[in-house]
Amino acid sequence: MPTAGTRLRDRAVLITGASTGIGRACALRFAREGARLALADVQVEGGEALAREITAAGGTACFVRADVARRADNELAVDACVDRFGRLDVLFCNAGVNLPKRLPDSDDDDIARVLGVNVLGPLYAARHAIPVMQKQGGGCILFTASKTGLVAQTDSPVYCASKGAVVMLAKALALDYATQGIRVNALCPGIIETPMLREFADAMDDPGAAWARYSAAQPMGRLGTAEECADAALWLVSDESSFVTGVALPVDGGFTAM
Ligand SMILES: NC(=O)c1ccc[n+]([C@@H]2O[C@H](COP(=O)([O-])OP(=O)(O)OC[C@H]3O[C@@H](n4cnc5c(N)ncnc54)[C@H](O)[C@@H]3O)[C@@H](O)[C@H]2O)c1
Repeated sequence: MPTAGTRLRDRAVLITGASTGIGRACALRFAREGARLALADVQVEGGEALAREITAAGGTACFVRADVARRADNELAVDACVDRFGRLDVLFCNAGVNLPKRLPDSDDDDIARVLGVNVLGPLYAARHAIPVMQKQGGGCILFTASKTGLVAQTDSPVYCASKGAVVMLAKALALDYATQGIRVNALCPGIIETPMLREFADAMDDPGAAWARYSAAQPMGRLGTAEECADAALWLVSDESSFVTGVALPVDGGFTAM
């Protein structure tokens, strides 16, 4: 991997939800900054291919299959990173699932899936990672929340609730470990062009019109890219943000300024 910089040189980084979208873009960006990566996802083929791509380009990456809704899989992913690289400098809980349904239309399985992946995943992973980071003398935790963790949107109450919870988890953990060298932040993407958004639009009656509507609703008149999220995530997990903790950073083209 041609190293664009050294901002994460030799840092051991675990990224969940790494196989596609924002997680994939972050993996590639972090690798170019010298990170050693453990990539976790339920999508095995894409994750393994990404690890091969990074390794073939001279970087360091391994893939671990993990369903973050399961406590044991989060622990396995953290342990895999520590086993492989001897430490865990950055835990980046990025895996997430959407639920574009009103509450009465959301069944128990829908609710359990969204809260399991989006809330319990980061909770379980952080719970297992914090003692590792304390032993090392520090580390960095980043959760991918969403602009919907800051401002609500229609027709997605369970998703909004899950992302609001993650924002508050980041703030609460940031306070608890502020004196121990562990920084905890949340990345709050706006509407970003990824497979998740494509799936969301495809579920609409007129996907083309939905896509145009998303762009038109943005202050910048366009959607964000996964690469733009990766640049912000890189800053939040690098030493450049060393005095930043407990922050929920919108990467939303101005959406939450409205
Ligand atoms: N795309 C957007 O507009 C947008 C906006 C705000 C927040 N987000 C958040 O960004 C994060 C990444 O989303 P994305 O847009 O890149 O979506 P995506 O669907 O492209 O990627 C999500 C990744 O998470 C993985 N994943 C899903 N369930 C999992 C599980 N149980 N265990 C492990 N991995 C699992 C998927 O396989 C996929 O690789 C999510 O947390 C999402 O909620 C996305």
